[in-house]
Amino acid sequence: MFHLFKRSYSPRPIFSVLGTDMHCHLVPKVDDGSKCYEESIECLNTLKAVGYDKVIITPHFQTPRFENDEDDIRRRYEDLKQQAANAGVEIEFAGIGGEYRIDSGFQKRVDNPRFLQIGGKYVLVEFSLHQQMMGCDEMIFDLQMKGYEIILAHPERYPYLNINGSRMEQLKNQGVFFQINVLSLGGFYGEEAKKRAYQMLEREWVEFMGTDTHNTMYAQALVDLSNDRKVEKILNKYEFLNKTL
Ligand SMILES: [Fe+2]
Repeated sequence: MFHLFKRSYSPRPIFSVLGTDMHCHLVPKVDDGSKCYEESIECLNTLKAVGYDKVIITPHFQTPRFENDEDDIRRRYEDLKQQAANAGVEIEFAGIGGEYRIDSGFQKRVDNPRFLQIGGKYVLVEFSLHQQMMGCDEMIFDLQMKGYEIILAHPERYPYLNINGSRMEQLKNQGVFFQINVLSLGGFYGEEAKKRAYQMLEREWVEFMGTDTHNTMYAQALVDLSNDRKVEKILNKYEFLNKTL
């Protein structure tokens, strides 16, 4: 079997309690995620080995960096599915979504009826890591009025979204769902993001957990994290909505 990296630990299936990974970048060559089928397949096998049984893939849509087209993404997703089946990948493909950056191109994208949702009603959005887009609350509100639910990807990673201020509370009051990255719990994005992730969990502000897997380095970190007993406890302590997808 083809291995792009050497595992330091054996994977443990601690993420079976979540069931579905609903955030990852494994359609090759469309964003800063996987670079080839082999890498995607290696990552998909790792997701299965750490306990996931379903995966929803969410390529970036971002101006001007990732000007992806939904129909093209759907085709590439089907190709990946076929390649994965040929390679004997066991994880179930549960859909193609998108991670839509709220930026100057966002409104146009979501006005297009072809835009990609997760589970038929959720729109996965992200903010810039540096600052929030002006008018972002209004765009979120408009989508909610159209019947969509908004999931904000990895709020723990935006340094300007303070917990105690509390801009996060305002977003929660607006009905925004929060998805934190499981790797934040192990400090993959630094101590600050880790601390904020735990604080958000304690406040019961987290509805979804995602891996945000981009490549085999993330897969390696997931295997390592699957050996962390504290993280295993956290996953069992709170209820998440991943399994509803
Ligand atoms: Fe992502």
